[in-house]
Amino acid sequence: MNNTFVVDVAIAGAGIIGLSLALELRQRGLSVTVMERGQAMSSASWAAGGMLAVNDPQNPPELMPLCVSSWALYQKYLDRIESLSGQRVAMRTRRTLQEPKLGRISNALATTAEIAELAPGLDPSGHSFEWLEEGSVDPNDLREALPASVREAGGILLEATEVLGVEATAGGVLVETGQDRISAGMFVNCCGAWSGSRRWGGVPVEPVKGHMANLRCEPSRLSCVVRTPAVYLVPRGDGRVTVGATIEHAGFDETVHEPQIKAMLDSAVRFLPEATIPSPTDGWIGLRPGTPDGLPILGAAKREHCWHATGHYRDGILLAPVTARVMTQAMLGETPDVPLETFAPSRFDSW
Ligand code: GLY
Repeated sequence: MNNTFVVDVAIAGAGIIGLSLALELRQRGLSVTVMERGQAMSSASWAAGGMLAVNDPQNPPELMPLCVSSWALYQKYLDRIESLSGQRVAMRTRRTLQEPKLGRISNALATTAEIAELAPGLDPSGHSFEWLEEGSVDPNDLREALPASVREAGGILLEATEVLGVEATAGGVLVETGQDRISAGMFVNCCGAWSGSRRWGGVPVEPVKGHMANLRCEPSRLSCVVRTPAVYLVPRGDGRVTVGATIEHAGFDETVHEPQIKAMLDSAVRFLPEATIPSPTDGWIGLRPGTPDGLPILGAAKREHCWHATGHYRDGILLAPVTARVMTQAMLGETPDVPLETFAPSRFDSW
């Protein structure tokens, strides 16, 4: 049936960014419809490692203010999702052992005794690590809880609904989908790796494929994240240790390749020798939304009444709460908590 919904904000993309923004907008009293071409939380938001990697030396330095602000918001963000959905979304780890970049040690190195306490199963030979106060979540926990919390907060979520076009109207936009039409005051592109669609004025976002896989290990043998330049290990506290990730420019290819999974798990098992590799392997892929400069795209689009909140590349899980907050502030004409000039879509105006 073809319905026309009238709302304040129409969001394309029900990944963690689109849904977190919907939640924040509902909190500020705006009516919201989120459209998702597949199932909510079924792409990068689900495939992610879930590290809240505020201090990852591989992050561009310009990202730090967003990372720090988002980490400060995180526990309240999880609590809100839990209380709305009635589903538990735990912080699964609270510390990270980070192998620093050569010559860039900023904290005291972890001692053997300290490693033996939180990571007795770790074989650190030939590597040094520093401690970081960082958390991690299991994106599987958010997969049902976040969509449920948006619905509970009064947002409309339309799955299997692809955005086919966005037309300007007097004072807003009309969003065309295969089924319904949404008449909205504002439209936000939160389509992750699919944000580049030129059909409705996309931005230069490219999919960056990542293979991931689970090892099995007795939970008490590793209870913090271990991150090296080559591989990371994220214990879930229940015997699974999630290992990531490859970085592949392979377009929208979503095939899982065993050789990549095997190579990654072999390199992880060198750090956690008593872990076992399940047979068959337990691997999957995700498509990260990459941008030309490695920074997210946050702010007003060229088209009136349209906005972008996308391009979070490796940090969408961490950056969801701050993105929801600063986008809401910008859309309501307020000063965002973190200045957004560096992330403005206009830097790609010639695309
Ligand atoms: N979030 C970590 C990764 O992209 O591999």
